[in-house]
Amino acid sequence: MEKMWAGRFQKALDKKADDFNSSIRFDCRMYAQDIKGSMAHAAMLAKQGILTDADAERIIDGLEGILNDLNSGALAFDMAAEDIHMFVEAELTKRIGDAGKKLHTARSRNDQVALDIRLYLRDEAEKIVALVKELVAVVTDKAEENAEVIAPAYTHLQRAQPIAFGHQLLAYAMMLLRDIGRIEDAVKRMNYSPLGSCALAGTTYPTDRAFVAEKLGFDGVTKNSIDGVSDRDFCVELTSAFAILMMHLSRFSEEIILWSSWEFKFIDLDDSYTTGSSIMPQKKNPDMAELVRGKTGRVYGDLMALLTALKGLPLAYNKDMQEDKEAIFDALDTVVMCLEVFTPMIATMKVNADVTYKAAQKGFINATDLADYLTKKGMPFRAAYKIVGTIVAECIEKGYVLDNYPLAEYQKHSELFTEDMYDEISLETCVNKRNSEGGASPSSVRAQVQWVREVLRNEL
Ligand code: ARG
Repeated sequence: MEKMWAGRFQKALDKKADDFNSSIRFDCRMYAQDIKGSMAHAAMLAKQGILTDADAERIIDGLEGILNDLNSGALAFDMAAEDIHMFVEAELTKRIGDAGKKLHTARSRNDQVALDIRLYLRDEAEKIVALVKELVAVVTDKAEENAEVIAPAYTHLQRAQPIAFGHQLLAYAMMLLRDIGRIEDAVKRMNYSPLGSCALAGTTYPTDRAFVAEKLGFDGVTKNSIDGVSDRDFCVELTSAFAILMMHLSRFSEEIILWSSWEFKFIDLDDSYTTGSSIMPQKKNPDMAELVRGKTGRVYGDLMALLTALKGLPLAYNKDMQEDKEAIFDALDTVVMCLEVFTPMIATMKVNADVTYKAAQKGFINATDLADYLTKKGMPFRAAYKIVGTIVAECIEKGYVLDNYPLAEYQKHSELFTEDMYDEISLETCVNKRNSEGGASPSSVRAQVQWVREVLRNEL
């Protein structure tokens, strides 16, 4: 296929160089955005008297036909085309003749591609936000279901303090809400039209950039034509928001993997989100969670690829920038894939309340509460902390837990210990009384659930 720019050249591009240079195999996914951008551009050219109304009408009708045919599959992409922009323009000219050749007036592929990516990412980001919201809703429902379930919480992966299990689940809902905020924030900053920046210096034609921007749903136009074609910050920002989101999913996955192990058995994953082993008949493996954890590395890689591709680039457009697409597309696809499996995996998992309760009974998880008991009776916290530490050591040595260690033994350490202490350090009391704002009690869990639901409602 002859290049549109063939005029200046004596020889055709080498075949391997041509394949190397071509981006249609991945930028074809922006066809709808490319065509809609071109329609708005043609309408603007006519409004400004740069094109005749008749030509603009032919162009817009032609583009509409191409869009429909691509949507229906009646038209296939020509993989010999250099990129999606060249393909659409060539197809248009094939269909409507000379008028098609006028579309690229007062425009360059440099501002065209910058426009297309913004439009594409805006649509995709919206889909991802919807998926994250769905996950937040599912996590919140699970948390509510498990508001009364007592479980140990950990530091250093050592049993630390008892909590309502729903409280830990809600920690993830909070992270995910921030992820939504980050994505929406990046979209807000991205939502300015670069079209009309042309190759890099604007144009001598009397264009109306604001008209195009408005038609395409932007909040305005970019203010510097060099920046308009060179800026890919929005790709970096979005990918970094995705990387953080994946980091959260990965931490969550790690817990799912631990919790579903025989060592914990806090949860059972549904059969439809686990796999078996080819050799060990007993195995039920948490592959989905492991893959989400694994794919997190991919998205970090995409972010690094983008940052690195951009770091040495002089202004304005350089072909290196074509590399932005595969990185951001891969990040997008990975995030979508992960969310589509992760959400139902969480929705269908079962929490084993008896197991989490038993785990909370071990590990002297109520030692802080015992120290607090003495402190509330007037002993300075540090002194109480020391006494409880000594008692824990005694219990370990003699095979007791705090809950069944005789009162007489306690009283050897302090006469502040009285019978009511056993009640104070029962798991139920420890959890139920953690009512400080954002604390681990069932009532705090329910308050958080209401808060998250309200945030979701207001944003939707
Ligand atoms: N396929 C190119 C890209 O993705 C389009 C822009 C080409 N511009 C140019 N001056 N060669 O970046």
